[in-house]
Amino acid sequence: MIEEVQKHLKEVAAFSSHEAEAIENFRVKYAGKKGILNELFAAFRTVPNEEKKAYGQELNTLKTAVNEKVNSLQSQLTSSAKNTKINDPSRTPFPIETGNRHPLAVVKNRIIDIFTQIGFTISEGPEIEDDWHNFTALNLPEHHPARDMQDTFFIQTDPDILLRTHTSSVQVRYMEKNQPPIRTISPGRVFRNEAISARSHCIFHQIEGLYIAKEVSFTDLIQTLKYFTNALFGNSKIRLRPSYFPFTEPSAEVDIYWGLETETDYRITKGTGWLEIMGCGMVDPNVLKNCGIDPEEYSGYAFGMGIERIAMLLYQISDIRLFFENDIRFLKQFKATL
Ligand code: PHE
Repeated sequence: MIEEVQKHLKEVAAFSSHEAEAIENFRVKYAGKKGILNELFAAFRTVPNEEKKAYGQELNTLKTAVNEKVNSLQSQLTSSAKNTKINDPSRTPFPIETGNRHPLAVVKNRIIDIFTQIGFTISEGPEIEDDWHNFTALNLPEHHPARDMQDTFFIQTDPDILLRTHTSSVQVRYMEKNQPPIRTISPGRVFRNEAISARSHCIFHQIEGLYIAKEVSFTDLIQTLKYFTNALFGNSKIRLRPSYFPFTEPSAEVDIYWGLETETDYRITKGTGWLEIMGCGMVDPNVLKNCGIDPEEYSGYAFGMGIERIAMLLYQISDIRLFFENDIRFLKQFKATL
C-alpha cells in the first residue's frame, strides 16, 4: 500500500505544465472528489494496523505535495499572464479606452448640425466684451432696468468692460460686419453673477440664432423652431408664450411639451407637462439700426437657448454642477459620433 503512495509522490514531483487546462486536470485527478487522494484516504481502513501510522504520514505528505504543486504552477501561470500583458507586442490592442466628448460638446454639436443643415453659419466672438456689444446696441442703454435681468461680472473697475452675459453680443458684431441676408448661430460660453445651485451656474453655454432678410415674419421663426425641436427631441409639440426681451419685439418664450407620464415629468414640469427651452422674437428695429442695417428694408428673428438646460432635458440630468466637475464617471456615460 505504502509503495502505491510513494509512486504517486514521484509522479507529483515530476509533474509540470504551463497550460491552465493541464494543471486543472492534474488537480482534479489528485484532489478532486473522486480523485486519488480521496481513494487512498478511503483505503486507510484496509491497511494493517502496524502500517497505519507510516501510511498516514506518507499520505499526508502526498496531499501537501499535491497542494503545493498546484499552487505553484497556478501562480506561475498568472504571473506569466501578467508579464505577457505588459511585454507581448503581438497582444491584441483591444479594448482600447478611448476618450469621449463632454456632454455639453455633444449637445452643442448636435444643435450646430441641425442649424447648419438649413443654411446657418457659425459665428463666434470674444468672451470679454464691451458695454456696447453686450448691452447698448441691443436696445439696453445705460441705466435701463432690464440690465438687471442679467447680473453682470465687470472687469476690475472699468464699467465698460465685462464678461458677456449672452452670445447676442456676437450677433451685434456679425451685423456690424455683414449685410443681410444673414443666417448665423453663435455658440459660446457666457457669464452671469449668480449663485451656483443645482439649477443655475455663473458660467454656462448658449447658442443664439439670427436670421435677417427681406420680409422675414414671425411665421418663419415658428417654422424654424418647429424644425429644430423636431430634429432634436423627436416629434414634439411646442408653444410660444409672450415674453419680454429688450432686443426683440414681439418676444416670446418657447416651451416644449414634455408630458406627464412619470413622477419626474410631474416634478420638472411643475405639473403642467410643459418645459421652457428658449427665448425668441423679432429683432427690434432699433437693434438693426444700431448695427447699420436698414429696418425699413430688412426684418429678422432671433432666438437663444442654454446648452446646459437642453442637455439636462435630453439626458435627464438633475444638477447643472455635474457639467463642471469633470468627474470621469459622469463624463464616461456620454458617447457620441458628432
Ligand atoms: N439673449 C437672451 C438671453 O440670454 C436670449 C434671447 C436671444 C432671447 C434672442 C430672444 C432673442 O436670455
